[in-house]
Amino acid sequence: MAQTDIVGTTEPLALDDSFVQDPYAVYEWLRDEGPARKVLLPSGWGVWVVTRYAEARAALTDPRLRKDSRVLQRYMPDAAPPEDDSLALALQAHMLNSDPPDHTRLRKLVGKAFTARRVAALRPRIEAITTELLDAMADLDDDPVDLIDHFAFPLPMTVICELLGVPDGDRQEFRAWSTTVLSDAPDQEVRAASTAMADYLVDLLAVKRAKPADDLLTGLIQARDHEDRLNEQELVSMVFVLLVAGHETTVNLIGNGTLALLRHPDQLARLRQDPSLVPGAVEELLRYNGPVNLATMRYTTEPVRLGDVEIPAGEFVLVSLASANHDDRRFADPERLDIGREATGHLAFGHGIHYCLGAPLARLEGEVAFRQLFDRFPGLRLAAAPAELRWRNSTLIRGLVRLPVHLA
Ligand code: HEM
Repeated sequence: MAQTDIVGTTEPLALDDSFVQDPYAVYEWLRDEGPARKVLLPSGWGVWVVTRYAEARAALTDPRLRKDSRVLQRYMPDAAPPEDDSLALALQAHMLNSDPPDHTRLRKLVGKAFTARRVAALRPRIEAITTELLDAMADLDDDPVDLIDHFAFPLPMTVICELLGVPDGDRQEFRAWSTTVLSDAPDQEVRAASTAMADYLVDLLAVKRAKPADDLLTGLIQARDHEDRLNEQELVSMVFVLLVAGHETTVNLIGNGTLALLRHPDQLARLRQDPSLVPGAVEELLRYNGPVNLATMRYTTEPVRLGDVEIPAGEFVLVSLASANHDDRRFADPERLDIGREATGHLAFGHGIHYCLGAPLARLEGEVAFRQLFDRFPGLRLAAAPAELRWRNSTLIRGLVRLPVHLA
């Protein structure tokens, strides 16, 4: 994609795999051009992308930019999936697709489980899981080792499954569905994966109903069955959003963050020398190459002006957190990784009422993961040239397909 294809045109810009592989260069041109712009995603879907920090932050809290998929279907009847997709649809009634007052009610149901204090109590268990995974990795005969498969994926997946009370066993299958659901794969494939996942969640809830335990799933089932605080569809969707958001993103915090540190040995050396820098480094890694690119869908029900751009009613709007976090109007020298910089204010967890519910958990997992990984393997290094690394075919999230490393 040449720069001349972009600047000065009003046609939607078609984003292709080169964008998925390196969105930051494209975003720099887009920010120079204006705060928001219509694009065609690789799936052919036309959306507005908000690229500058100030407008991105404003858009995330603008009540005229709506989430609720039922309202969406009124405004955009073509967007409604076919009738026979009821199971896939059952996944959509979650807080991330809701506006107040539903959003407020749904978020309140689980808010307490994710407060900083409740999450801090999980530290010993997260440390133990991390140690187990690193031990298992050290025992592998493979060289190179895929750090995504053996560490970045199983750590957050195990933590969120334990928290919810999801039994071991089906996690690889769940990972495959989840990868498809968040990808730019053809609609048919995404629907098939959503239906398989919904089927699985319905079964899981049935098993839990029959055998309650002291876990979050049981708590949610009781809120449904005894207190009537959410309906059945909302229950299934809640479990879906917690499981998917709970692992998809943190995998990529660990994967993208490890890659960034291995590519910046000076920053890694600083971190190793002074572990008190780890929490700040997690913030900088979230800013520098965070897990969420465009997974911030909203839409307009009336015209909305962002800076000097007016987005008409009935349009999808995706706020690019990746672009906002690289805007030099907000962060000095944004393309430079500096684990000591003041990175707070980044938008990697969003902003406003939908601000990531799991942020304290993700931060803790990232902190424990980086601390232990670099401690345990002082000789850890990349086993592929950066140009050989592939990014997942998703414009929504940003994560590596594989991260091959030598452990020593
Ligand atoms: C919402 C990012 C980890 C659960 C969000 C949003 C972002 C985000 C950007 C807002 C999207 C929007 O406004 O449209 C991240 C990142 C993570 C992470 C970068 C890891 C580094 C987690 C974890 C959980 C979680 C571990 C576990 C429960 C949620 C939920 C929402 C959410 C439930 C919806 C909140 C709402 O609508 O009120 N996340 N997330 N996230 N996240 Fe996370």
